[in-house]
Amino acid sequence: MEELREEIISFPRVGEMAPSFEAVTTHGTLRLEDFKGSWLVLFSHPADFTPVCTTEFIAFSQAYPEFQKRGAELLGLSVDSVSSHIAWARNIQEKTGVKVPFPIIADLSKEVSIKYGMIHPGESKTETIRCVFIIDPDQVIRAILYYPLTTGRNISEILRIIDALQTTDKYGVATPANWQPGEKVIVPAPTTVEGAEERLKEGYECVDWYLCKKSV
Ligand code: BEZ
Repeated sequence: MEELREEIISFPRVGEMAPSFEAVTTHGTLRLEDFKGSWLVLFSHPADFTPVCTTEFIAFSQAYPEFQKRGAELLGLSVDSVSSHIAWARNIQEKTGVKVPFPIIADLSKEVSIKYGMIHPGESKTETIRCVFIIDPDQVIRAILYYPLTTGRNISEILRIIDALQTTDKYGVATPANWQPGEKVIVPAPTTVEGAEERLKEGYECVDWYLCKKSV
């Protein structure tokens, strides 16, 4: 337990390189490095054969083509065994017709869970909570979401974050609250007095010099 506490103190953070791992999955042994060049959504769930997790796996599986359109792969994780993951995925397909198309890590040793700070003892001392790590093609962690055991994730929000990050990378802009693809984006704020004056002449939609939007 002390060892777990020590490890938990050093959670990975946004903007840092994703911790490397090699893990047993339902698609064989996979390493973080196998995903280099793709976006990767690494997400943990508390346990196989549980109701909220099942609804999430159905939703992630149904949205898989949307992740692929964005060049993103999915990789699930829990501390259950590969046999349990396989049995659960088969059960989901048998009962709902939805095939789970992405690999699931069987983190029986908790090696990956501890590295990524996926166990939050206040929620559960033994299970991973609902974490989402959005990792870019250079394997930098770009966003992290934590949900409690009792709240199923919003898959549209995960796709929206990927859209926002890809828009930021492509155009050097930021995205406002509740932004959706196709909507105006935020032009970086000027850093000089001259820049602030110029900004207002550029034809952007501005609330003031520090908050201007444009279409991309
Ligand atoms: C669920 O997926 O339903 C669940 C799993 C662990 C704790 C609470 C709910």
